[in-house]
Amino acid sequence: MSALEPVVAKLAGDPAHDENQRTISEAIGADHGAIDVYSDNIKTASTLQEKIEWRNQFTWALARHAVSEELTLYPVMEKKLGQKGKEMADVDREQHMAVKKDLYELQDMSPDNKDFFPLLDILMTDLHKHIEHESNEDMPRLEEILTREESKSLANYFEKTKLILPTRSHPSAPNKPYFENFAAMLAAPIDKFMDLLRAFPEEGKLGDVSASEAPAVVQKS
Ligand SMILES: [Fe+2]
Ligand SMILES: [Fe+2]
Repeated sequence: MSALEPVVAKLAGDPAHDENQRTISEAIGADHGAIDVYSDNIKTASTLQEKIEWRNQFTWALARHAVSEELTLYPVMEKKLGQKGKEMADVDREQHMAVKKDLYELQDMSPDNKDFFPLLDILMTDLHKHIEHESNEDMPRLEEILTREESKSLANYFEKTKLILPTRSHPSAPNKPYFENFAAMLAAPIDKFMDLLRAFPEEGKLGDVSASEAPAVVQKS
């Protein structure tokens, strides 16, 4: 039994030998790529309705990505990388907070509001700086000490956790495990109900870039 199993595998099942299971770097990288595409699509969509749909898709993907990292990835970094892991996770949480605050404003702002795209640009600049930190610092150091099986288990845990998280930004919720668990769980059912009232891009438009488990909600409103 590997050292990570008490943290990860018991919660995540046993995906370690699944050929199709991505590693944690691959899972995180796929989300980052999808979030970029959703952001671009808000800008290039030709109608306000489509811009609203992509804004909703962007919010849905980014909100859950960030909190799932806080609940799964960062605790494992802290546990496995000691003091350095704690310092890296603190930087990550601080960077997340700036992004979450902007997302909180954007998620209900109309793309035809003059403040919308300048704020989206600020958010994306902060997000790319953060993604650089995750890609260049967190991931290489973490992958170096994880076996491929452990990395796959962590990715599975990361993906499964996303399924039960709030789908909108809640910057006032605590961003560490335990406290975040309770605050996030309380918010999740309300967000999922609210998503029924929001419009998302039709499934065919998501193509190959979608974050996993895209919302199966297509309603024009
Ligand atoms: Fe990330
Ligand atoms: Fe992150």
